[in-house]
Amino acid sequence: MKRENILDILKKTKRLPQAVIPKDAGMIVAYTGVCSGWRVLDAGTGSGWLSMFLANIVNPGKVLSYEKREDFAKNAQQQIRKYGISNLRIVNKDVLAIDVKGKYDLITLDMKDCEKAVGKLHKNLAPGGWFAVYSPHIEQSVAVKDVMAENSLKNINIIENIAREWYSEHGFTHPVPSGIMHTGFLCFGKKQI
Ligand SMILES: C[S@@+](CC[C@H](N)C(=O)[O-])C[C@H]1O[C@@H](n2cnc3c(N)ncnc32)[C@H](O)[C@@H]1O
Repeated sequence: MKRENILDILKKTKRLPQAVIPKDAGMIVAYTGVCSGWRVLDAGTGSGWLSMFLANIVNPGKVLSYEKREDFAKNAQQQIRKYGISNLRIVNKDVLAIDVKGKYDLITLDMKDCEKAVGKLHKNLAPGGWFAVYSPHIEQSVAVKDVMAENSLKNINIIENIAREWYSEHGFTHPVPSGIMHTGFLCFGKKQI
């Protein structure tokens, strides 16, 4: 076993915008079955946490991630170079403004107007491929769900993953009374095989 795993690496990276944290990234694995060899498209890259997490899972499969802000794209590119994540490519482009080519087994989105991206990118899903769309607000998730349904995606599901840590000391045990309660919602949808 390697001494340092992807969770140790993520903690050391320079984080800029709010990232998808492992408790939510892990649900993408649980709900889609993403594994070694899958082709992944991601937008926006942001701090690169989700794309790095997925690159680790799909290796030697590849992740392509689009980020419209140059400063965020540059930072994420520096982090993947520094930590030797070679199966992830970050492209500094607005994913809504370009013609995305190719087919993907998983498309992950964490960006403004993600419902527009679902409408645009469903043609890039391989048969049996999944969307996993992360949104901080439920209104965004509902808009995403509606566009998924309009485009005949199946297995549409919105989830929130609440992980509550517990604290035990001096014989008394209870939930930790503070910390992050809400992160975001995940909306999944699958293209028919
Ligand atoms: C919350 S951050 C993503 C965080 C990322 N998932 C992570 O785990 O580090 C949202 C990012 O989406 C980018 N973004 C928004 N609209 C975009 C678009 N149309 N194309 C590409 N990137 C976009 C923003 O610049 C921002 O960096």
